[in-house]
Amino acid sequence: MREKFVAGNWKMHGSLAENKLLLDGVVAGLAAVRGVKAAVCVPYPYLFQAQHSLQGTSIGWGAQNLSEHVKGAYTGEVSAGMLKDFGCRYVIVGHSERRALYGETDEVVAHKYKWAHAAGLVPILCVGESLAERESGVTEQVVARQLDAVVHAVGMAGLKGAVIAYEPVWAIGTGKTATPEQAQAVHAFIRSRLRVVDTALAEETVIQYGGSVKAANAAELFGMPDIDGGLIGGASLHADDFVAICRAAQAS
Ligand code: 13P
Repeated sequence: MREKFVAGNWKMHGSLAENKLLLDGVVAGLAAVRGVKAAVCVPYPYLFQAQHSLQGTSIGWGAQNLSEHVKGAYTGEVSAGMLKDFGCRYVIVGHSERRALYGETDEVVAHKYKWAHAAGLVPILCVGESLAERESGVTEQVVARQLDAVVHAVGMAGLKGAVIAYEPVWAIGTGKTATPEQAQAVHAFIRSRLRVVDTALAEETVIQYGGSVKAANAAELFGMPDIDGGLIGGASLHADDFVAICRAAQAS
């Protein structure tokens, strides 16, 4: 039985003062929520603060990106090992904003995934199609290509323990959520790709949905058979909303 997993992706938001309120609110709000995994993925400079606030709680923390290299002369980059130093359990890999705005190709994403996995981090691998791709009927091909690039780098065994986040690009930050049926169809497709090679892996792998998840629509999304929680952007910046989404996951 897969446990539901809700992760916040704060993106480039926050300050020490704002984060303190948010983290305190999330810790207090989630104290009574059982049977759901929760985590926040924060900007690099706030990893220490997240670690300080969340260690000793059941809430995990992580980063939103990492370098595709292990170490070396890569000014401005942050390695998987550095994330481990700050107690990170998770790292988002291949978010569509990284792919679209920072030119991360499937190959770069696969390298990042490889080093995250090798360092013992849980990669949250983001896949998803653009609006144009959906409208031209190639959603499954796009998602399959994004997954295959990672499998090519780490093998099927390298997906064990990872989290996959299906995030249709057209639903991110737009307020336009995929319907539960649309999301379920892609989640089922992803799981079927895993099942072809490894039934146990397919059943164990947590597949989150991301894209305008709110407290108001979380329960119906998480109620679908292959949707195992969510990767939450905007709504993760408000403790009450994030906690309400985790509660919806608990109930579904
Ligand atoms: P929103 O929840 O703001 O649409 O963002 C989703 C997302 O990109 C999470 O990674």
